[in-house]
Amino acid sequence: MLLSSSLLVAARSPRIRQLVTTFPATRKLVDRFVAGEATADALTTTRSLVDDGLTVTLDHLGEDTTDVAAAAATRDAYRTLLATLADAGLAARAEVSLKLSALGQALPVDGQRIALEHAVAICQAAAAVGTTVTVDMEDHTTVDATLATVSQLRAEFPWVGAVLQSCLKRTLGDCADLAGAGSRVRLVKGAYAEPASVAYQDKHAVDQAYVHCMHTLFAGSGYPMIATHDPRMLAIAGTLASTYDRPSDSFEYQMLYGIRVAEQRALADAGNRIRVYVPYGADWYGYFMRRLAERPANLGFFLRSLVSR
Ligand code: FDA
Repeated sequence: MLLSSSLLVAARSPRIRQLVTTFPATRKLVDRFVAGEATADALTTTRSLVDDGLTVTLDHLGEDTTDVAAAAATRDAYRTLLATLADAGLAARAEVSLKLSALGQALPVDGQRIALEHAVAICQAAAAVGTTVTVDMEDHTTVDATLATVSQLRAEFPWVGAVLQSCLKRTLGDCADLAGAGSRVRLVKGAYAEPASVAYQDKHAVDQAYVHCMHTLFAGSGYPMIATHDPRMLAIAGTLASTYDRPSDSFEYQMLYGIRVAEQRALADAGNRIRVYVPYGADWYGYFMRRLAERPANLGFFLRSLVSR
């Protein structure tokens, strides 16, 4: 727990970022979680997953942008990606996930407006090629602003997906609010270090909240996206789908690229919808550190690869 929270603090430290990203041995482990740096890499990975019967959501890596030009560049990267997916005939099987902080949400002047405008531009590009967008959820200080933006986007693009984190005490209420017809909701446990005032600190409580949230989403009339690698949560999701008479095309499972790959294929082979979250791009540091924090064994693997050089 202490190790995980230290890694999450390190995820936002420029000094540690410099150290980790310039270390040559880092690359090997990063490649396990990240599809590559270029759009072409994202395309190759998408094609291979789609050929295996999976669907994909692509994340152009980046977050906490403090620069207006960088926010616009992220918007353009998504537009290029969507056009590339369409040209390759993959848009029906691959959507995009975006972080509002990469689109300018944290800019000191007009951040919320700028992020919304960029997100609208990306939604327009997605609509033009027949695919969808999901708005990732970041730390708890951004939840109200992000849900407000999702609601604004949904007025024009009702298929925009939201993400809710079971670690936050408020989330069961948000699930109830977002469980209506057509509402795409990705349920995750939450990847950020959060204070006890707003978030459960105990893994058991986070898991229990995840189950309560699944109940609410499956009982509703929206489209739950069960994003977890946890075998217990996956089994309970299967049971709830039967309890609430959910046909297999009325919800989906989601997992991260490179994590429990055999389980991803097993779920697809059993007739379930399964979507893989594929991150790509040069700005992989924050994403990578969160994956290390989730599983101390990853850190051990990383440290051993440093020592064995
Ligand atoms: P848990 O952490 O309990 O792990 C269960 C098991 O999964 C582990 O025992 C291990 O076997 C395996 N596992 C989990 N993480 C691993 C790792 N890093 N490396 C290797 N094995 C691992 N969070 C967020 O705050 N905002 C968001 O927008 C998103 N988006 C998102 C999309 C998708 C598709 C997924 C799957 C996850 C997210 N997350 C996220 C991350 C999420 O909040 C959470 O941190 C991770 O999914 C890990 O939690 P699990 O539910 O897998 O359970």
